[in-house]
Amino acid sequence: MDFNFREMRRLDRYKLMTSTIVPRPIGFVTSLSKDGIVNAAPFSFFNGMASEPPTLVLGLETYADIAPVKDTGDNIRDTGEFVVALVSEDIGDQMNLCSTSFPPEVNELEEAGLTALPAVDVAPPLIAEAPVNFECKRTTALEMSGGSKIIVGEILRMHIKDEFVDMEKLYVDTPALKLIGRMHGTGWYARTSDLYELKRPNSPAARKLMDEPPALDGEKETSE
Ligand SMILES: Cc1cc2nc3c(=O)[nH]c(=O)nc-3n(C[C@H](O)[C@H](O)[C@H](O)COP(=O)(O)O)c2cc1C
Repeated sequence: MDFNFREMRRLDRYKLMTSTIVPRPIGFVTSLSKDGIVNAAPFSFFNGMASEPPTLVLGLETYADIAPVKDTGDNIRDTGEFVVALVSEDIGDQMNLCSTSFPPEVNELEEAGLTALPAVDVAPPLIAEAPVNFECKRTTALEMSGGSKIIVGEILRMHIKDEFVDMEKLYVDTPALKLIGRMHGTGWYARTSDLYELKRPNSPAARKLMDEPPALDGEKETSE
C-alpha cells in the first residue's frame, strides 16, 4: 500500500504519520503570556535538531479554520522565550492533563499540581518534577502553508537533577530518567525500559573528535 499524501485529507495524513513515526519524545513546554500567566502544554512533534548552536524544534498543529492558535505559539511569538521539560513516567498524568484546552488565563501547571521553579536565563518557569528542563530562546518560526507552525529554539541552559548525572564524565543515567514517548492513537505511550545495544562501527573521524575535542572559543583565547 502507498499513500499519496498530496491527495489526502490532513487528518488522515496526520493519523498515518503519528502512528508510524514513533516513539516520539515529548517536550512539555512552559511559556508566559504577555500578562505573565504561565502556560504549559506537551508537544510530541519535538526533537533536538542541532548542537551548534544547540537547537530544538516544536511542531504546532494549528488549523487555519477551526483552531488557528495555540497559547504556546502565541506566547513564544510574543516573548521569544520558553522552557522544554522532558516527561518521566511519574508526571505522565499531569502532562496529559496539560494537553486539555484551558483558556489562556488558566495557569496549567497549577491546575495539574506541578511545581514552577524559576529559570535562570528566561522568564518561563522550569517544572520541578521533571528530570530535565531546557531553557530556550526562540530562533525563528516557520509558518507552514496549511496552518501548522514549526518553532525553532536555541537551548541556553540545561537543568538535570543531580542524581542522574555524573559531573566528571558528563555521563547521564538515561534509563533512570524513565522518560516516556508518544506512540500511536490518542493515548498510547512507550516506556524507555526495553533497551538493547548496537555497537557503533569504528569511525576514525568520530574517534579523533573524542580524543581531541575542539576547544571552546574562550579556551582558545587563553591558550594563545
Ligand atoms: C503527548 C501529547 C503530545 C502532543 N503533541 C502535540 C504536538 O506535537 N503538536 C500540537 O500542536 N499539539 C500536541 N498535543 C496537543 C497539545 O498539547 C494541546 O493542543 C494543548 O492544549 C496546547 O496547549 P496550548 O494552547 O496551551 O499551547 C499533544 C498532546 C499530548 C497529550
